[in-house]
Amino acid sequence: MDHSDDGLRQYLDGRVFDGHLESRLKREIPGGEPVIDPDSGSIHIENLPLSRICLEYALRITGLYRRGQRNARRLCVREHDLPVPGLTEAMRGYRLLHVSDPHLDVDPGFAEGLADQLSGLQWDACVITGDFRYRTNGNAEPALTGLETVRSALDGPVYAVLGNHDSIRMVPRVEALGIRVLLNEGLVLGPASNTGVWLAGVDDPHYYRQHDIVRALRARPDRMPAILLAHSPEAYRDAAAAGVSAMLCGHTHGGQIRLPGGFALTTNADCPRALASGAWEWQGMTGYTSVGAGASVLDVRYNCPPEVVLHTLTPN
Ligand SMILES: [Fe+2]
Repeated sequence: MDHSDDGLRQYLDGRVFDGHLESRLKREIPGGEPVIDPDSGSIHIENLPLSRICLEYALRITGLYRRGQRNARRLCVREHDLPVPGLTEAMRGYRLLHVSDPHLDVDPGFAEGLADQLSGLQWDACVITGDFRYRTNGNAEPALTGLETVRSALDGPVYAVLGNHDSIRMVPRVEALGIRVLLNEGLVLGPASNTGVWLAGVDDPHYYRQHDIVRALRARPDRMPAILLAHSPEAYRDAAAAGVSAMLCGHTHGGQIRLPGGFALTTNADCPRALASGAWEWQGMTGYTSVGAGASVLDVRYNCPPEVVLHTLTPN
């Protein structure tokens, strides 16, 4: 296809509103996301110019760096029963493999390790809740190469949403790998269209804020329960108000660096801490925030092991 922005406009014609695409293209500025978001005042730690260098230096002189790197490679495969209000008996036991925040360009060897650990897992559909890339601007090629490696280990349908580190310009390449990106869109999952689940996915709610949940639900058959994919739990209020049954997300990394005892120094998300990792519930909507498979800023983790999650759907 034509890889210019006009080519992208043609590729996404009919799938996104012009305003959505143009806003995304305009905000994907060459210098990356600002340190302080002018709209919300949120601080993007990953964009602090010296944060990586200072953190790495501090960890090296305290002798903790290599241990953190080893921790970041010890991926857990977590089993979780996801209650979905309104789920039909036909969908009981359906398994979703949930991968979040792989940040595939932070470490060249990471994608192969992740692919090894994913191959052989049993699931019905895989969902990826964003942040394929570590960089927030510029060359996406290393992340896309890593994604190709990961996709080769996934034998089944794969759906994804974009995170705040991802460019909408990556979508045609991601979809060419057989990963359907949901840009405020949805589709029916399951063995039969009348007893399935509506899988909705929205664009990044953290930085780009182009998450249109109502639009993602608009083609849902009457009374069909909906599972929402969103990069960040920050969309929780909108999701509950729109009638979403269950929400899967990531972004927070669970803090990535936690104190002994599990207290996260930051979750980088404008939501209650109870929604920043693991299973949660909000006004009748269930949810799960993955602590992620990868790492950001530095490839280290402390007291917060990386994970992929096998969700088994259960009626609530
Ligand atoms: Fe993120």
